[in-house]
Amino acid sequence: MPVVPMKELLDRALADRYGVPAFNIVNDLSIEAVLAAAVEERSPVILQTSVKTVRMYGRRQLADIFRTLVEDVAVPVTLHLDHCPDRSVISDCLEGGWNSVLFDAHELDVAENLRQTTEVVAEARSRGAHVEGEIEGIQGVEDGLGSDDASVVQTLEVAVDFIRRTGVDCFAPAIGNAHGQYTAAPVLDHQRVSDLVQATGVPMALHGGTGLSAEQFQDLIARGCAKVNISTALKQVYMQSSLEFLRGAEAQGKWDPPSLFTHQRTAVMSMAQEHMRTFGSSGRAW
Ligand code: 13P
Repeated sequence: MPVVPMKELLDRALADRYGVPAFNIVNDLSIEAVLAAAVEERSPVILQTSVKTVRMYGRRQLADIFRTLVEDVAVPVTLHLDHCPDRSVISDCLEGGWNSVLFDAHELDVAENLRQTTEVVAEARSRGAHVEGEIEGIQGVEDGLGSDDASVVQTLEVAVDFIRRTGVDCFAPAIGNAHGQYTAAPVLDHQRVSDLVQATGVPMALHGGTGLSAEQFQDLIARGCAKVNISTALKQVYMQSSLEFLRGAEAQGKWDPPSLFTHQRTAVMSMAQEHMRTFGSSGRAW
């Protein structure tokens, strides 16, 4: 059975200090290509959906596509809902079989965020699912959510208290990371990851993976970032490979959609495999 609980996947990765890549898939082709990469690398993998992707397909159709494509995949896979401030979408995805959700209530004050996240954790538990928590916005706009303003970072004590009292299975700290391409080299607060993991034993989620160096990934993974999010890199490689192919098709006057799909798939697969090797998840499937 390839679909495994998020917590199992992350607890193993934290214990052995590798990172499980969490790719924001955008359609059936990218789901299939990421799964093919995971099979090729014998890597566990997280497929995550933005609220925008859930709305584009409809929860039921997206879940059906996922279930069909994952059926014969022989590596551990988890389906996760990325940044979601909307409780009704959270409930809908949990009901639809998502294995975990990021309840992103960073716009609420911490006390109200804590109260509601505790409810989301109880709701997820009743369905055998898990929860990622967040109290600080990650800088950058992704799929229509977020802000370009710098994150307001809470103290270590506040973050540790939130993690302990809510019982979240994973936490997304703001450490100078940002969604999208970095416009300047990020200055990352590595120590905060170490401090949070040491105080709570809970795996961290590294957001804003696109544009970080192999050294930055590996250092943060060694400190306890067991979930590593990649979205922009997938979107870019998908669209740039399409553009490159379509330019060639135009020049040759040849319009064959399956050749385009093969080209896109190869590009997404090799991007995903590269990240799995960098994160040390290759060969970790069980
Ligand atoms: P990037 O778009 O920078 O890869 O970040 C992905 C992410 O953190 C999704 O939540």
